[in-house]
Amino acid sequence: MALFQSTPLCGAKQSLLTDILNYTRPRQLFPEPTDLGHLIGDVHQMIAEGLEGRGITYRQRVETPLSDVSVDVDQFKQVLINLLKNAYQAMPAGGELAVFLRNKPDDKNVEIEIRDTGEGIPPEIQDKLFRPYFTTKTTGTGLGLAISKQIIERHGGTIALDSKKGTGTSVLIRLPMAEGRSEGASECKPSS
Ligand SMILES: Nc1ncnc2c1ncn2[C@@H]1O[C@H](COP(=O)(O)OP(=O)(O)OP(=O)(O)O)[C@@H](O)[C@H]1O
Ligand SMILES: [Mg+2]
Repeated sequence: MALFQSTPLCGAKQSLLTDILNYTRPRQLFPEPTDLGHLIGDVHQMIAEGLEGRGITYRQRVETPLSDVSVDVDQFKQVLINLLKNAYQAMPAGGELAVFLRNKPDDKNVEIEIRDTGEGIPPEIQDKLFRPYFTTKTTGTGLGLAISKQIIERHGGTIALDSKKGTGTSVLIRLPMAEGRSEGASECKPSS
């Protein structure tokens, strides 16, 4: 009989392992000029199933033209999935999930805001949210925000949460505009 038997990891264990590896040994970044409006559309498609049946209305507003940012598309999709997942998990009884993309030409940034009308975050835990393995969920790994912050900061950006218990949460990400293209203030066009 073999002393060690390798058994395939179940889905949840595999994804925990992937999260831990991604956090402790961040993957190399391959940034490319990216249209974030497009990217958020793709991510919405990926999580649309999770929104279905939960009574969650999704909307997004993308300022046009939106400046390009330079991001690693796969890793940035991971960030947006983590944040949208947190938002819909905070709305078990339904609500509204809104994403806003705006130019911040004065700071040469592009801003992504993800806003939910969920349960909000009690003030006493707000300073712990980005700690690895901090979770209030029975099935959470507590790595979603830690990994997202790490990826955003490696892109030269920032992330901040603003939340009020019982009212909802707003996540603000700021990313430097890609060199050579900065759009001025312009109209906002609703989409999807
Ligand atoms: N939009 C939100 N609304 C309410 N609470 C939130 C929101 N986003 C994050 N939180 C709180 O922050 C904690 C940490 O979030 P994080 O994404 O790091 O881990 P998690 O969602 O618990 O687990 P996972 O690793 O599966 O993402 C959550 O457990 C939750 O308490
Ligand atoms: Mg999470």
